Amino acid sequence: MRINRLTLLRTAAIAVSLCFLQACLETVSTPPAPEHSATVSLGSGSGNEPGSGEDAGAHVPGTAAHDTGHGLTQDPTPPQGDVGGPFGLSQLSSADGEHTYIGDFALAEDCADCHPRQYEELQGSMHSASHHEPFYRAFALLALEEAGEEVYTFCSGCHAPAGVASGLVIAEEGKELPAAATAGVNCDACHQVSKLSGKQGAWGEPGNASLVLDPGDVKFGPLHEVEDPLLHEAEFREYYKSAEFCGSCHNVIHPSSGVRLEHTYAEWEASIYAKKGIVCQDCHMRSVEDAIKVARELKPVVEMGPAAEGGPDRPIYRHYFVGANVNAGFLAHGPKHADMAEARLKSAARLEIQNAARTNDGRRISYEMVVANVAAGHSLPTSFTELREMWVEQTVTSASGRLLYQSGMLDEEGNIEEGSMVFGSHGGDAQGRLTYKAWEVESFIWQRLVPARGEARDIVSVDLPEDISEPVTVKARLLYRSAPPVAIKMVMKDQAFEAKIVEMAVAETVID
Ligand code: HEC
Ligand code: HEC
Ligand code: HEC
Ligand code: HEC
Ligand code: HEC
Repeated sequence: MRINRLTLLRTAAIAVSLCFLQACLETVSTPPAPEHSATVSLGSGSGNEPGSGEDAGAHVPGTAAHDTGHGLTQDPTPPQGDVGGPFGLSQLSSADGEHTYIGDFALAEDCADCHPRQYEELQGSMHSASHHEPFYRAFALLALEEAGEEVYTFCSGCHAPAGVASGLVIAEEGKELPAAATAGVNCDACHQVSKLSGKQGAWGEPGNASLVLDPGDVKFGPLHEVEDPLLHEAEFREYYKSAEFCGSCHNVIHPSSGVRLEHTYAEWEASIYAKKGIVCQDCHMRSVEDAIKVARELKPVVEMGPAAEGGPDRPIYRHYFVGANVNAGFLAHGPKHADMAEARLKSAARLEIQNAARTNDGRRISYEMVVANVAAGHSLPTSFTELREMWVEQTVTSASGRLLYQSGMLDEEGNIEEGSMVFGSHGGDAQGRLTYKAWEVESFIWQRLVPARGEARDIVSVDLPEDISEPVTVKARLLYRSAPPVAIKMVMKDQAFEAKIVEMAVAETVID
């Protein structure tokens, strides 16, 4: 027998709001219990700041629209008329709005002699592989097959900007293309940007590759007063130090429904990091250790070194661009990047079991499972949250080792057991059915994210069997994976890989 989710949701919503108002665990009523165990876990929302006590309501997959508790601004309203740029649905453009000459885009290898550090750091990053990596490749080809060339070009605006600007990344896959056209987010995709166009663009905010590419001899960058290097000219642009620059691609807005499919920039903008002037670069262009320090102290870390071989010492930034992709070893030939992503995930959250208690008659225990986002400058998880999954695996056992309750386990297909404490989102198609295909998404049918510096809290209560009078142990693990097996299989068929599961944090407590 399955728990009736709708009943559960309603009961949970009532119980949780009572508890928030009165801080009273005893008011949690126990909904009809499933046969296999007398347990239930109740979902609650989270405020934007720890301890704010703001309740965003219960979150159960398959219900309700937007979660209001995670600090997101509203999705932009689809503008009237043209939502794209000169090259289609993407906002990407060039200085004159015409296709650029592909020969003006260099490869990362062409920069390696004079900028070896940046080159070595970038190799193996998801940026360096954003057009070729097998998961994206298969997903983009599925988009091409099901939604057509226009959508495929939209995807490529961010995943292969030089290809779209030059008009070469078009639907005819298998055609020989110059390497520069399929290079992904490499040096020239970022350093030949002469202007950001998001604020003036159709959506009024960065996103959908709102960049003006102006390839040629000039490399744009963050340095003032650079004497022109021999092989290229250099021009200062303030925005290399801004989150808006990254937001040009890290806000993905559905061109017709206006849903922000990815909203990392918007989440960051609503966070304390934005208020304190801590930008993406302060965490993602720093070592994991430095990024942890930045998150804790809310102050940027400065690093000095040469910007080019033999150049003077200047403030420099690392080019690893590591996030959470622990599959980078296999996807992007970046085993080092995968290790760094794992370390980053392990630094991001804290898991706590609070207010653990047993009723006077000893027949029931209850506790609060709390997930706190301590080091991510945006929600946890962020970005492609229709795929990304974070969840709590928890068990309650008696001193003699008897299993009394568990949730967050995987079934035979690798799906997370229903009713678990899960974070991510579900895209819904026009009929409101779950879809992993980004191009079909018209709304989110479920979303639960932990905002930057915020926390999420579930109240769990477990009825104990009569013969259990000894202490019980609650053990919990916070886990992350980049996509569920069912989605990877849908996209990659017999090439499907298994996304690595990372243990982000653990907690344990004994209730007498
Ligand atoms: C506005 C820029 C943008 C557009 C347009 C875009 N993406 Fe992405 N995509 C991103 C970013 C940024 C990430 C990285 C987010 C993350 O790491 O979770 C990403 C990640 C992905 C991933 C996950 C890769 C992995 O290995 O885990 C897939 C798959 C993907 N995109 C497919 C697509 C498809 C298909 C389209 C078109 C329908 C598309 N994207 C359109 C920016 C974009
Ligand atoms: C022949 C050596 C050489 C090559 C090759 C080279 N650069 Fe440079 N680059 C330099 C030097 C020297 C500087 C200035 C360093 C300084 O003053 O600290 C520089 C500066 C830069 C800057 C900073 C500009 C600013 O104003 O902030 C960027 C960005 C840059 N290069 C990108 C690239 C890219 C991308 C490539 C490959 C397409 C490349 N460079 C190839 C030598 C080179
Ligand atoms: C031209 C578009 C573009 C720009 C500009 C851009 N990104 Fe990305 N970024 C992407 C895409 C596309 C991916 C996903 C590639 C994939 O997984 O296939 C990505 C992935 C990432 C990831 C995830 C890596 C991982 O391990 O999960 C991080 C972190 C990241 N970008 C940070 C940044 C930062 C910081 C900036 C600004 C300095 C930035 N990006 C600017 C397009 C862009
Ligand atoms: C995703 C975008 C992105 C990619 C790809 C990228 N850069 Fe950068 N780069 C930046 C940003 C942003 C900064 C400035 C960070 C700051 O000052 O806050 C920067 C800074 C620099 C600088 C100034 C010195 C330093 O290291 O901070 C140089 C030189 C440079 N990049 C060269 C390169 C070269 C060469 C490549 C390719 C091997 C490359 N970049 C790839 C975004 C990018
Ligand atoms: C205070 C530090 C901090 C800041 C600021 C920050 N991030 Fe992150 N970011 C993290 C940490 C830690 C992770 C790993 C945990 C996670 O997935 O959120 C991460 C993960 C990511 C991921 C990978 C998510 C996934 O599941 O694939 C992307 C993409 C990303 N960040 C982009 C950005 C962008 C773009 C900005 C600026 C708008 C930014 N970050 C600002 C700390 C930061």
